[in-house]
Amino acid sequence: MAEIVAARPLLAAERSVYKPAAGADIQHESATRTIRALGQDVMAGIRTPPPPARGLSGTWPYAGTSYLRQWLFSADPLPVSLLSKRGVTRSDAISRMVDRAVTVWPGSAAGEKSTTLAGQIRDASGTRNRRQAIALYRRATATLCDGVAALAGNALWLMKSTRKPEGAPADVTAVLWETLRLLPPAWMLFRRGGGAFAGLHPEIGAQDRVALFPLLMHRHPDYWSDPLEFRPERWAGVADPENTPAFMPFGFDGARCWAKHLIVPLAERLVKVALDSRLVISSPPQEAHIPLRSLLSVRFDAAIGV
Ligand code: HEM
Repeated sequence: MAEIVAARPLLAAERSVYKPAAGADIQHESATRTIRALGQDVMAGIRTPPPPARGLSGTWPYAGTSYLRQWLFSADPLPVSLLSKRGVTRSDAISRMVDRAVTVWPGSAAGEKSTTLAGQIRDASGTRNRRQAIALYRRATATLCDGVAALAGNALWLMKSTRKPEGAPADVTAVLWETLRLLPPAWMLFRRGGGAFAGLHPEIGAQDRVALFPLLMHRHPDYWSDPLEFRPERWAGVADPENTPAFMPFGFDGARCWAKHLIVPLAERLVKVALDSRLVISSPPQEAHIPLRSLLSVRFDAAIGV
């Protein structure tokens, strides 16, 4: 898998957050500016008190996604904050209207509060740059909130399904690494043309599309003891989990996730809020629905204080 990922750079169309927008590739400089802005907003969010815990009640991972949006991005003025609202993104027509409204958004009066990511839209010069900044805001906030809600939800569900009577395990970081192993949100990596990979394996043809499965490697019995067991203890004292053989929750060098340093700290904060607020999962243990989507996220219902 590592050799396939290293064989060629990702094609523009294979990228998720940074695939082309407004008819042009995303320039490296604008990609790095976006990730820095997102980093500032996440770190600022982690330091602010979370929204009321009742927002965690409902169907996960959606409840987690909305809660994170409110926590991190609700300071943004309308119409920017509408860009990533679920009701809006589900309709192409409404999405286009909001895009247009943001394109003509005059930017802010002095003192108006907004995230650093929204500032990228305000400061973009020219229509194409502004439309790209809008696309990057929408994709970056969606990837972050959906991904972290999936990871935190998977962790809460695994804890609930396996929790011992004496209560929640103390080491939430270890719980998250073990969740990234057993139920990794990015469960499959995908490449579109096999040309560059054909020499690596006799069965890969030049026209083939190639799917790689971290989900399976993370359960491979040659690399993991009790691979199907949820055992956060296996990460105790592991200084750099990503150096563990057969473990690739954020991909490999060459296409490794640019946001990985943000994901675990934010998910940790969210899981702790859920545990402190006594979020109760009402779906049956050991059994859950996982739709076949690009993000692996367990569906369950949860409520505060029932
Ligand atoms: C829980 C959340 C996330 C997970 C589990 C995750 C996982 C991954 C994985 C597995 C890859 C490798 C993909 C491949 O080789 O095909 C990757 C790449 C990448 N991720 Fe993430 N990611 C998450 C969130 C984010 C966010 C919020 C951003 C930025 C806004 C981001 C930006 C990137 C970028 C830029 C790449 C490199 C590929 C490229 O150049 O386009 N990721 N991520």
